[in-house]
Amino acid sequence: MVPNSLGDDGRSTLGEITKRASMPTQRCLALLEIARNAPLGDALELGSNVGLSGAYLATALRRRGGGSLVTVEGIAELAEAARRTAAIVGVEETMQVVCATFDDVIRDAGERRYAFVLLDGEHVPEPTVRYAEALRELLLPRGVMVIDDCSEATGMAEAFAEISAWDCWQRSWTDGRFGVLRLRG
Ligand SMILES: C[S@@+](CC[C@H](N)C(=O)[O-])C[C@H]1O[C@@H](n2cnc3c(N)ncnc32)[C@H](O)[C@@H]1O
Repeated sequence: MVPNSLGDDGRSTLGEITKRASMPTQRCLALLEIARNAPLGDALELGSNVGLSGAYLATALRRRGGGSLVTVEGIAELAEAARRTAAIVGVEETMQVVCATFDDVIRDAGERRYAFVLLDGEHVPEPTVRYAEALRELLLPRGVMVIDDCSEATGMAEAFAEISAWDCWQRSWTDGRFGVLRLRG
């Protein structure tokens, strides 16, 4: 399902949304460890929310001295908040926030390819398998894809098992939350 508003009764504050949807600091740091092992190049994040994980990724790219992040958010108010986060952290030149659906961005990717992709959207099996199938075509050789929330509880563990069985991967593993896949070289 593609979100089109701030959701529930529309009364959630940005703070409440952030608390509910953003990765906690420890997960952002774990994400950076994984991203560090991706080849140098651009990164794509599907699911910006207010831009917290994006700000971590963009900072890491800047420190590595190469590549920029495109992060995608379907809700305009959240995309705007993510832009503000990027400006506060000082990574607005490295982090481009696109307000669009995941499907639109995948469809319009053209020749652009990514060294690192984070899928952090609906956290339900059906679109996840479909997005992963499209995203693997956007990865550079040896590029890394991370899928958030591959837990038993959400049914995503099964989806990750299905995705990791594709023979395009050199390696795949999960820590019970992130599912990580490295494309063959
Ligand atoms: C779990 S949050 C992302 C959290 C963020 N990565 C972080 O840790 O700071 C998922 C976000 O993806 C957005 N989203 C989910 N499905 C989408 C879709 N199909 N197209 C565009 N945005 C989507 C939601 O509005 C939500 O803000």
